[in-house]
Amino acid sequence: MKKLAGVLFVCIVIIFSCTRKAAPTIPNRPVEPVAGNKADTADFNSSNPLVAGKAIYEIKCTKCHKAKNLSDWTPDEWKPILNSMVKKAKLNDLQISQVTQYVNAHAKK
Ligand code: HEC
Repeated sequence: MKKLAGVLFVCIVIIFSCTRKAAPTIPNRPVEPVAGNKADTADFNSSNPLVAGKAIYEIKCTKCHKAKNLSDWTPDEWKPILNSMVKKAKLNDLQISQVTQYVNAHAKK
């Protein structure tokens, strides 16, 4: 009986070590340039206001309508629109500042 338990133990160890070796290695995904990346909720915490602003714009500002074309309005024209939209999107002061910087950076010149 003891011998059987020993054999069983060795088998389990072999199976275990084989399964671990057989596990596929996941290749690292190539890092895309920031501008082309799709916004992620993790970006909300970015210290770069343009990255956080992009995430807010693409995630929070698209709850009711598709992302509007940023260059359809100048920063001055955006002001009253943003004023009403940030309330709709329930943004806090930091998020308002971030999304405003993002919008202005891409607004009509
Ligand atoms: C609670 C819903 C809601 C949220 C959230 C929201 N919007 Fe809107 N937005 C609307 C509605 C309704 C309209 C008017 C109908 C339309 O143009 O689709 C509108 C219109 C707009 C327009 C067009 C204004 C015009 O004069 O033609 C822009 C630009 C816009 N939203 C930007 C934003 C931005 C930026 C955010 C995020 C800060 C945002 N929206 C979040 C509901 C929302």
